[in-house]
Amino acid sequence: MTEARHTPRVFSGIQPSGGLTLGNYLGAMKRFVDMQDDGSETLYCMVDLHAITVWQDPAKLARATRELCAGYLASGLDPARSILFNQSQVPEHAQLAWIFNCVARMGWMQRMTQFKDKAGKNAQNASLGLFAYPALMAADILAYHATHVPVGEDQKQHLELTRDIAAKFNHDYEVDFFPLTEPVIEGAATRVMSLRDGSKKMSKSDPSDMSRINLTDDADTIAKKIRKAKTDPEPLPAEVEELEGRPEARNLVNIYAALSAQSVEQVMRDCGGKPFSEFKPMLADLAVETLAPISSEMARLMQDEAEIDRILAEGAARARAIATPILRETFKIVGMVGA
Ligand code: TYM
Repeated sequence: MTEARHTPRVFSGIQPSGGLTLGNYLGAMKRFVDMQDDGSETLYCMVDLHAITVWQDPAKLARATRELCAGYLASGLDPARSILFNQSQVPEHAQLAWIFNCVARMGWMQRMTQFKDKAGKNAQNASLGLFAYPALMAADILAYHATHVPVGEDQKQHLELTRDIAAKFNHDYEVDFFPLTEPVIEGAATRVMSLRDGSKKMSKSDPSDMSRINLTDDADTIAKKIRKAKTDPEPLPAEVEELEGRPEARNLVNIYAALSAQSVEQVMRDCGGKPFSEFKPMLADLAVETLAPISSEMARLMQDEAEIDRILAEGAARARAIATPILRETFKIVGMVGA
């Protein structure tokens, strides 16, 4: 009911916390590009306010924000078709997040697995921002009445919380104002795993650089990491079901499928029976073919920071034009005088 009332609008974000991985690319950026031409308005954010929930060196944060913007552009996002901006430049995110801090319950936040993972054993020492992180994320999405959010599997719980916040706000204030946003978690690579351990997510924070492919890795490094990726001694099976219990094999097949825009079934049909000594070089070639132009384009774009800043400023102005009336209406609903 709520969804139908809202014009389809896509929002997603990535933290500029340094080091984009193949997981970010396949789970998010590539899919952002795919959705750019689906006919909906698309907004893609560099969530710098989220990044500082853990310590960030200021100069590195600024560089990572520009590098992420370069990554978006190099992957195929077009500032004429998508709104690209950094979160801190649209104050409505932080303002709406405050309202949502007052809607969300402590218990909801305490259940968030990402908080538990990131805070580790010493949760008392985590920042208050890290705890409230999902309320800011809900604000990112709902400040635009976004209806669809493409993300990787690890963000699912946060998106469920976004729906809970929208529903509680609508219920408490007796309005039908915020949409119940749909997570879009689709494709073969919604959870790209570590190359060293098929039970762990590929992540920029893994201490081993061999566990991940970085978007800035050169061709030799990519090939070496794939060659050394952990596997089992069996050749690839011809049926998807037979990948059961073989997480490392499954992961490489998923990556291959996502990079080549094929289904996992198709890859199995073509590659079933091949030993890894044959499959890994095929995968390495495909990864290099896809990533090398992205990393060289990122390096080129990073030569012109002024142009990146111009794109971000223009994106922020366009984003504000959407978020300002939604925030004003939210304030009115809540009873803020002057809104
Ligand atoms: P972040 O910055 O950790 O990751 C950005 C995006 O990359 C996806 N991703 C992966 N997908 C598949 N396999 C992997 N190994 C992998 N690693 C990362 C993530 O799922 C995500 O889609 N909280 C978010 C950022 C955020 C956001 C938002 C997202 C803030 N506000 C509003 C959507 C809407 C985050 O930390 O993503």
